[in-house]
Amino acid sequence: MPWYKVDDHFNAEHTGIEKIKVAGKSICLVQLQREVYALSAICPHAGADLSKGWCTNGQLTCPYHRYAYDLTTGRGAAGQNDYINTYAVEVREDGVYVEVNSWLDKIKGLV
Ligand code: FES
Repeated sequence: MPWYKVDDHFNAEHTGIEKIKVAGKSICLVQLQREVYALSAICPHAGADLSKGWCTNGQLTCPYHRYAYDLTTGRGAAGQNDYINTYAVEVREDGVYVEVNSWLDKIKGLV
């Protein structure tokens, strides 16, 4: 699967949620100091922008109806019976990378 560079710099002191577009996908890049997570930015409940949400207890919470998703697995909180896609993240010397299958890669048979 291809890796995409999404940031030139990694600041270990930074905490925040940023929406990025990678390979046609809207992704939330969540940084909690030294930990970085990449999750779908579209809430499966009613389509809200999860990058406008907030993080508590290892979960990303949707700003509309407060459904919550595990930052590591994407699994919805108890009783929700849903999930969001998660993506692998690597912090390298030259920046932050996210691993994403693009629709074009799938069509080409590369993945
Ligand atoms: S749209 Fe996200 S919880 Fe309803």
